[in-house]
Amino acid sequence: MSAVLQESPAQAGKKHEIDENSFTLAAGLGTGPVPIEPYASPAYFEKERERVFRRAWLYAGRMEQLPEANSFFVKDYEINKASLVISRGKDGRVRAFHNVCSHRGNLVVNQSCGVAERLTCRYHNWAYRTETGELMGVPDLKHFFDFDKKSCGLTPVACDVWEGFIFVNFQKKPEVSLLEFLGPFGKTYAGIPFFNLDETIVIQADFKANWKLIADAFAEPYHVPALHPATLAPGFAHPEENRYARPLSARAHGIHRHFSAYGNPQYVPSETSKVERLVYVQETGGVLGGDSAENARALTAHPAINPTKNPNWSADVTWIFPNFNIDYSTGGFWTHEFWPVEYNRTRWTLKIFIPKTMNLRHRLQLEHYACRWSEVVLEDVTNCERIQRGMESGAKTHMILQDAEMLIRHNLHVLDKWVNADTVAEALQ
Ligand code: FES
Ligand SMILES: [Fe+2]
Repeated sequence: MSAVLQESPAQAGKKHEIDENSFTLAAGLGTGPVPIEPYASPAYFEKERERVFRRAWLYAGRMEQLPEANSFFVKDYEINKASLVISRGKDGRVRAFHNVCSHRGNLVVNQSCGVAERLTCRYHNWAYRTETGELMGVPDLKHFFDFDKKSCGLTPVACDVWEGFIFVNFQKKPEVSLLEFLGPFGKTYAGIPFFNLDETIVIQADFKANWKLIADAFAEPYHVPALHPATLAPGFAHPEENRYARPLSARAHGIHRHFSAYGNPQYVPSETSKVERLVYVQETGGVLGGDSAENARALTAHPAINPTKNPNWSADVTWIFPNFNIDYSTGGFWTHEFWPVEYNRTRWTLKIFIPKTMNLRHRLQLEHYACRWSEVVLEDVTNCERIQRGMESGAKTHMILQDAEMLIRHNLHVLDKWVNADTVAEALQ
């Protein structure tokens, strides 16, 4: 039994007061302390590289990044020491290739994205067809020996799309399809309407911390009153009704997971928050500011969003294993990517999809919410390097998780399965 499933000695054999409503117990997880080794051990990180990031389906980008035939973008996966080109064909199909020249291994594409019929390596001008990766042209071909052009295309990588989200898999022949990998999550969260996909705010940063510490920062709202007293707590906790911002729901969906965040129904901007008072929208404000009432209704009508349909709902956080979040609120949605670089280094990318500005007031509203949201996430992530230091000090071998931190426990449980399983089928059980 994995450590994350074990009962704590204090709780063994005794009914805990939160048993009935426990997210942790409902997810079939234990309640004992959880080892911190996965955050602080280079050896564990090597296992994650081989057994998780080389076998799981990994996020690459959105379909909007490939608006037409011959569109392409480059995505680097440092954990797998790889750079990929993702392209769209005239047949509408999305394909992925290693961005590596068949001639002498140079990285072919030097720009982050574009539209072109051919991708040309600048070292000796070998050219590849963008949509299929086939080798098209080789300068001075006659001086090569027994040249087989057909076998010298870009090396393909498995690629598939779910709800407009593009995923890749580094296994030569993936053991499971993307849909099998997504399992119940893929079914529950299918059909959610996504709005505002063309106006994106991107925030990217590198941290001296394990990738899971950054992911954990967005996996529970228990920290809201302490870490975000001025920015988030007034709107996402309540001094009497929900002092510690307990989630409305938190569940495992196979190897993936979600929690629904509480919103304070009595929240109004304070007298001193003059700008926020100007731009605040009670009904559709959500986390990111205003969207149309119609869009807000379409989102909240979906059964997966705020699944208990609690009226005091603010946002849903979904965490697709291993390192990708899609988060929803009535004001729009946003994604997090937590990319491991070393066991104690992470590149984090936050993309916020916001509506197009309709008028001056709307513009002010979006600017306000974008600024405040940036402040909130900086409060989250700047704390992570301190946790890494604490974990690496050797002072503690375990951490103690409460019920609202179920997603963190579930991730460690799933991770442990993947690290120890010989096959993906076994890891998915
Ligand atoms: S390495 Fe790419 S053309 Fe020579
Ligand atoms: Fe936070």
